[in-house]
Amino acid sequence: MARSKVTIVGAGNVGATCAHWIASRELADVVLVDIVEGMPQGKALDLQEATPVMKLDVNIVGSNNYESTADSDVVVITAGVPRKKDPVTGQFPSRDELVKTNQRIVGEVTRQVAKFSPNAILIVVSNPLDAMCHVVLNESGFPAERVIGQAGALDTARYKAFIAQELGVSVRDIHGIVLGGHGDTMVPLPRHTSVAGIPVRELMAEDKLQAIIQRTRNGGGEIVKLIGVSAWYAPAAGTVEMVEAILRDQKRVIPSAVLLKGQYGYNDLYIGVPTILGSKGVERVIEMQLNDEEKAMMEVSAKAVQDVVSILGY
Ligand code: APR
Repeated sequence: MARSKVTIVGAGNVGATCAHWIASRELADVVLVDIVEGMPQGKALDLQEATPVMKLDVNIVGSNNYESTADSDVVVITAGVPRKKDPVTGQFPSRDELVKTNQRIVGEVTRQVAKFSPNAILIVVSNPLDAMCHVVLNESGFPAERVIGQAGALDTARYKAFIAQELGVSVRDIHGIVLGGHGDTMVPLPRHTSVAGIPVRELMAEDKLQAIIQRTRNGGGEIVKLIGVSAWYAPAAGTVEMVEAILRDQKRVIPSAVLLKGQYGYNDLYIGVPTILGSKGVERVIEMQLNDEEKAMMEVSAKAVQDVVSILGY
């Protein structure tokens, strides 16, 4: 059987780390694409040179164009610009300016990707995540089950890491889920969080649990404060978890940003919900029974996503 092929657009921190983990698990050959000349080629070469030591049979190449991405099975889109000060004016761009800039970049990337890999499944990582999913859906013309956003995999990973640390148990035994938009309105669900099936509230005091929920909501900001730029190991790990579920047709249940068509009461909106991921991409959205409090949090989150989506002008 031929090896799978994954293209990663944006060979920055998150993109290059995705390549690293895809290679380290021998999931697929990788093509790294970036606009910066030489950089994706250099990172790909460096990683390729590590393969004899790590005993990995994968090819990793870098490029500044899309010919070499042809017929990819999965394409991960991380291209974009972060929120940073304008070197001339010293001002931060407004949220709307940033959304428009990343809409242009992600739109351009998507058109190229779709042209060369018309059957690929696209995983969107660029922020603002839920809005960029709408851009990729529109510009690719792909069916919605092949355009999926990575957010919940990362938010859930952070949530589980904090719980495991607090209780001193293995991360493997924590089950939990974070829904909603990718941002501080995300919806962690303590009612559905367990340690090897034991409800987390039987093991942890409410104030500790609430502190963990708050820390999860601020997870991105906590890293930015420490390093000065946004995180890459955990975002890449969350992304590769989705890539693996798709390539290996695992039918994993991973919270992902998907286009809702009436589920949870929302229509034509990308938001994070439990999703079965397999070789077709989104194979099914699981509709959980939410209580009134959880529904209200979901509503706040959906409103925040809708506000950003409305800037796109679709
Ligand atoms: N085509 C290809 N690559 C591009 C383009 C473009 N049109 N525009 C920008 N890029 C590249 C940049 O050159 C850079 O290498 O996208 C890369 C982004 O990498 P980083 O700046 O290191 O950002 P990173 O931390 O990897 O985050 C990428 O993922 O989690 C999100 O919020 C994050 O939106 C951001 C994205």
